[in-house]
Amino acid sequence: MTGKGPIPDGAEATRPSVARVYDFLLGGHHNFAVDREFGRKLIEAEPNAREIVAENRAFLGRSVRHQVAAGIRQFIDLGSGIPTQRNVHEIAQAADPAARVVYVDNDPVAVAHSRHILRGNPGAAVIGEDMRDPEAILAHPDLRGLIDLAEPVGLLFVSVLHFLPDSDDPAGLVGGFARRLAPGSHVTISHVTHEPLPGTAAEVVKLYQRTTNPARTRTRGEILALFSGFELIEPGLVLMPLWRPDGPAPEHPERCWYYAGVGRKPAPQGTLRPLAR
Ligand SMILES: C[S@@+](CC[C@H](N)C(=O)[O-])C[C@H]1O[C@@H](n2cnc3c(N)ncnc32)[C@H](O)[C@@H]1O
Repeated sequence: MTGKGPIPDGAEATRPSVARVYDFLLGGHHNFAVDREFGRKLIEAEPNAREIVAENRAFLGRSVRHQVAAGIRQFIDLGSGIPTQRNVHEIAQAADPAARVVYVDNDPVAVAHSRHILRGNPGAAVIGEDMRDPEAILAHPDLRGLIDLAEPVGLLFVSVLHFLPDSDDPAGLVGGFARRLAPGSHVTISHVTHEPLPGTAAEVVKLYQRTTNPARTRTRGEILALFSGFELIEPGLVLMPLWRPDGPAPEHPERCWYYAGVGRKPAPQGTLRPLAR
């Protein structure tokens, strides 16, 4: 790694890892030579790669701020990565120091680095689990120590579901979490799509076959289907820069070939109280 410290057990140093390549693109130091070499190839294929990952982090921030404003005080960030820029706990705890965040990743470098930066923060934890195992994640004692599953949760699948093939049933996974979470919980999804730039997307997907996590793109319709158990809030599923931008809408949102959206778990039917007269 370019940073200090030992290489954690289980870290594969011969093939690029998506967590470490992403860290390289964000300007972090928790990556190996093989990741940096791969990152440079990615930038050759998509010269906007660094801007796109920065846009993804910006979307994550906008979504968390929206959820905090909507009253959410606990978050589960699945495939959380190697946090190098403003993280979920920083944003949520800046709004309310009592906010709680659990990060989940199956990359040993991501887990070790997250553990390091979360030292001394009683409201945040990281667990090294595969996101495809909601039972293990939601039963984990470190999660149960922070997250009250009877209260709404902000569930985040940011730039991660495209690492799951259809055979892993990503919509079923999101739906499985939805069933276990309280009404009012939110889900945030950002996902790569080939629709605006098919040639570039195909080249990047081909490159990712060499990594520890091959990726695939999906159509808007396929990504929409991932919001299983949740109802999209405004503005729906849109090209990522168009999701509640902080400033004026960008002129070329299609250069960021991601769809992004936030969904809310509705109250079960029949539980609404009659309006007072
Ligand atoms: C592109 S990074 C995104 C990081 C962060 N969510 C963000 O958007 O800034 C994808 C992350 O998902 C993790 N990941 C991929 N497949 C996973 C799985 N099955 N279970 C847990 N984490 C996974 C990778 O290790 C990596 O850290």
